[in-house]
Amino acid sequence: MLRKGECGEIFKVFLVSRNEGKIREFIDLGLKECVEVVPVSLDKVEIQSEDLTSIALYSAVQASLYLKELFFVEDAGLYITSLKGFPGPFSSYVYKTIGVDGILKLLSSSSDRTAIFKSVIVLHCPRQGFRVFEGSVRGSISLEARGLSGFGFDPIFIPEGHTKTFAEMSLEVKNSLSHRSKAFRAMVSWLKTAYKS
Ligand code: IMP
Repeated sequence: MLRKGECGEIFKVFLVSRNEGKIREFIDLGLKECVEVVPVSLDKVEIQSEDLTSIALYSAVQASLYLKELFFVEDAGLYITSLKGFPGPFSSYVYKTIGVDGILKLLSSSSDRTAIFKSVIVLHCPRQGFRVFEGSVRGSISLEARGLSGFGFDPIFIPEGHTKTFAEMSLEVKNSLSHRSKAFRAMVSWLKTAYKS
């Protein structure tokens, strides 16, 4: 699980996901933290729940029936204030159905365009069981879709303090401030303490 590398101890941790966008982001985040993120594709049922943590925990427990190593799963969602948190845990379905344009239409007459992206990571440790890590980033929904990078709702999310959407930013810049990077760094910091030799 651990080995010595140029930057100290290198953790190898599996990521159970089929989302290419997430996989790219996690691999890049790992490189900066001495963590080797290895994607694994497993058939898993995603439950419907109003709570991201329950969804991620269910996926992690399911994956642990097949994978006995150190691994993590992530569930993320976009929470739009004027839509009372919608699409939130239903972000994946909403993206596949009404998509970015549908969200822009829903907000067409709304003066409050604030939103939060949330990420919940559940880490499976062979000895310590499951651990939950969270990250979020505040921002707003742009007036139109902008940018070609990233995935999902990136073209309409402008993080607070910035003018560009996530899709107009490089992977490195998005990773320096995203919900996902905050949850990931919290997990890495826990791993580095828990597995300190
Ligand atoms: P899930 O965690 O794969 O269920 O993600 C739910 C949906 O939220 C995805 O299909 C994307 O549409 C959206 N999403 C999650 N994270 C991001 C992100 O970092 N940028 C843009 N969209 C995201």
